[in-house]
Amino acid sequence: MRMVPLSIARPDYAATGHPSSRFSANVVKNADQISRMRTACLAAREVLDEICVLVAPGVTTETIDEACHEAYLARGGYPSTLNYHGYPKSLCTSVNEVICHGIPDSRALREGDIVNLDVTIFLDGMHGDCSATYLVGEVDAVSRRLVEVTHESLWRGIGAIVPGQPINVVGRAIQRCAEAADFGVVRAFVGHGIGEVFHMEPSVPHFYDPDARATMRPGMTFTIEPMITMGAWRHDTWKDGWTAVTVDRRRTAQFEHTVLVTDDGVDVLTAGPDEVASWRDRLAAAEQLAGGSAPR
Ligand code: MF3
Ligand code: CO
Ligand code: CO
Repeated sequence: MRMVPLSIARPDYAATGHPSSRFSANVVKNADQISRMRTACLAAREVLDEICVLVAPGVTTETIDEACHEAYLARGGYPSTLNYHGYPKSLCTSVNEVICHGIPDSRALREGDIVNLDVTIFLDGMHGDCSATYLVGEVDAVSRRLVEVTHESLWRGIGAIVPGQPINVVGRAIQRCAEAADFGVVRAFVGHGIGEVFHMEPSVPHFYDPDARATMRPGMTFTIEPMITMGAWRHDTWKDGWTAVTVDRRRTAQFEHTVLVTDDGVDVLTAGPDEVASWRDRLAAAEQLAGGSAPR
């Protein structure tokens, strides 16, 4: 297992593999918690931006994991995934038909692959979690569209956040976007509340779930991380107990942000300013074309 200097503060599961209960932290954060969430999320963004430049044909996912591990430590952070329920690495690398939780290994990326890098850092007592799917060299048109639609579906979900509304409006927006493009939405893995605890309440489905009625309240922090498939949305798990793949082995993509519900909307804690501005503009333009108000 990769080493973490003793000077770096660890989450409770670092030694045992067992995190405290998902109900053990408060869902609505106070000002101090929010400020520490901003720190962790900004660092997660920086780490992802730093390691994504390594994506290229011939590079192994283990090499990217090593760089990621060092990038967390350089910021004084702990790699949240390391020993989380026994997970062995500092990063998740999910290639092609892998939906999520791909374990970095000695397989080299190949021209035409798509790969999701999922970064989570524990810093200042909080977890910050984000991911994106990257193209390896020249990629076929359908895969490029899958990646594009997946990214759009994330921002549609973010755009649906309104304090006071039930959380299922997020999944409804994501599902509409994905299914309009004839893609599938993975049901088994969902977004999650996040803070002192890596995965906590509320649960954030990426499809319309009438039972997901938790009310979005200012001060809540959670992730949205849609996994969108070219074909079937059901999954199999490899014998390693982690790697989730599509049952039909067709490709799947994922993007993830950690968000904060504010008094009048949302703050995307893991997004750079450029990404926020460009998606706000694109979605506003799409709304105007449709001649209606925001799709909720
Ligand atoms: N970062 C992943 C998420 O988005 C969780 C990975 S947990 C692991 O929630 F143990 F699989 F690494
Ligand atoms: Co993640
Ligand atoms: Co997450």
